[in-house]
Amino acid sequence: MCAAAKLEHLIDIKSLSTEEISAIAERALEIKNMDRGAKPLSLAGKHAAMIFFENSTRTYFSFEMALNKLGASVYNFETSKSSLSKGEDFFDTVNNLAAIGFDACIIRTSEEGLIKRTIEEQKNGRKFFKKIALINAGEGTSAHPTQALLDFVTIKEKFKNLNGLNLAIVGDIRHSRVAKSNIELLNRFGIKIKCVAPSYFKDESVKNVEWCENMEKAFENADIVMALRIQKERIQDIIEFEDYIKNYQITEENLPKNAILMHPGPVNRDIEVTSALLDSKRGKTILEQANNGVFARMAVLEMFLGENRGYNV
Ligand code: CP
Repeated sequence: MCAAAKLEHLIDIKSLSTEEISAIAERALEIKNMDRGAKPLSLAGKHAAMIFFENSTRTYFSFEMALNKLGASVYNFETSKSSLSKGEDFFDTVNNLAAIGFDACIIRTSEEGLIKRTIEEQKNGRKFFKKIALINAGEGTSAHPTQALLDFVTIKEKFKNLNGLNLAIVGDIRHSRVAKSNIELLNRFGIKIKCVAPSYFKDESVKNVEWCENMEKAFENADIVMALRIQKERIQDIIEFEDYIKNYQITEENLPKNAILMHPGPVNRDIEVTSALLDSKRGKTILEQANNGVFARMAVLEMFLGENRGYNV
């Protein structure tokens, strides 16, 4: 690891080069193995604010765990108790955190484009008090870059050669930032992606995937099946759960024999995936994803906050 980072902020997968993605994944796997014995790098003296406008278990705690493992100090920014509730502008909030001494804000928001807009405010002559990294921990329905990175790490652990693998994505693609970031990332590594969803979860603006009529078609030659959470909080209409379960639920019977099962979590048990499958040996990859989230986020934090910021890519 060396050289100054070209990047100051993690906005989305598009903002990362293919080489940077590979470097993060390799570093995550290196740290995972180090973690079993040797010491990871130190981010002692760095301060990170966790700004979560939406609920989270995996992303919040794996970032917190990653920061703690790297020796950084981590602070919860309680959005409802902050001066945002008095109408403070988000750029001003981040800038004041920079002035206080923070080095990073880890941000989860439902507001599409908030992170990019905050960074771009600098083009209007507003400047951050000092360097502060904005890291996307899930934004709107479009981007969840660290989830895609941890999924990539998980896939790399399972398969020697990624080029030509077949991935089937099932479910609420329209509202899924996980699907969008994964499609952007995995396409770059030669993974062929099929999508299957009821009409109300389709998103025709998603490019570089093949839309399938049914699960049978989507599962042909599948090496990876990725189920998505039905995002009830983003859906106004009533979902036909019975119909969804009948046509799109993943079970021990319909999961292709040689395919691995992934799900970003949280899972709506017995809707997207049956409990029997989740609790079986084949359901374990989902927990491995959560486990890899810590190492992928450690690698990201090293890249954006490390003294020798960036990798030699
Ligand atoms: N996968 C994911 O983002 O989970 P959380 O919402 O629990 O962070």
